[in-house]
Amino acid sequence: MRTGTEEYYRRRALEYDRVYDKPEREADLRELRPWVASSLAGRRVLEVAAGTGWWTDSYADTAAEVTATDVNVATLEVATSRREWPSSVRFFQADAFDLDSIPGRFDAAFVGFFWSHVPLEQLDEFLDRLAGRLQHRARVVIIDNRYVEGSSYPIVRRDLGGDTYQERRLEDGSTWSVLKNFPTPSELRGRLARVGEGIALNELEYYWSATFRVTHQRGAR
Ligand SMILES: C[S@@+](CC[C@H](N)C(=O)[O-])C[C@H]1O[C@@H](n2cnc3c(N)ncnc32)[C@H](O)[C@@H]1O
Repeated sequence: MRTGTEEYYRRRALEYDRVYDKPEREADLRELRPWVASSLAGRRVLEVAAGTGWWTDSYADTAAEVTATDVNVATLEVATSRREWPSSVRFFQADAFDLDSIPGRFDAAFVGFFWSHVPLEQLDEFLDRLAGRLQHRARVVIIDNRYVEGSSYPIVRRDLGGDTYQERRLEDGSTWSVLKNFPTPSELRGRLARVGEGIALNELEYYWSATFRVTHQRGAR
């Protein structure tokens, strides 16, 4: 399965981190980074779609172990060279829909800014596969964007499945139609309740976060 954003992010790898320089988002990010770190402290974390490792950096020093994965080698190369990583951190190429080849046992997962790119009809399967790769009662932390007029790319299209799309441009001048969904809290809660309990949602101005414990594993492995 694919999100359809794989090639876009491969081409964007070297310019990706600029999204974290938007000044209006700075206060939210300053709040989120330590929250992510404390949520994952002491855990053996599987990070899905880790990209350039900007968030990996926020929690790597306090987690017990980190396996940060992404489908794109280009983004993982940026992540690897971002800093000197503790020996407990490793990077691994893996598709988010095929997590079985990743070595390790995990009592936590982190998913940053990937939910919004998963087609709605694949979200349940993504969550099932993720839950199936984690230990029972593992903690999952998910963060993503809220739609904010003037800061987010406008939504230019909605398809028959309900997925929404943005038009984006890279520095090389290429333009891309990128699937990007902005779930409501009740949509999030409904999806997460299939796989977990103890769901806690939080909305900042520019971002939403969700945590839960994995309790329903459907043998997706
Ligand atoms: C919006 S970026 C988020 C990167 C990083 N988590 C962050 O928050 O900075 C989305 C990431 O998903 C990755 N991606 C897209 N499709 C994927 C797939 N099928 N499996 C794994 N990663 C995928 C892209 O390579 C990209 O790094």
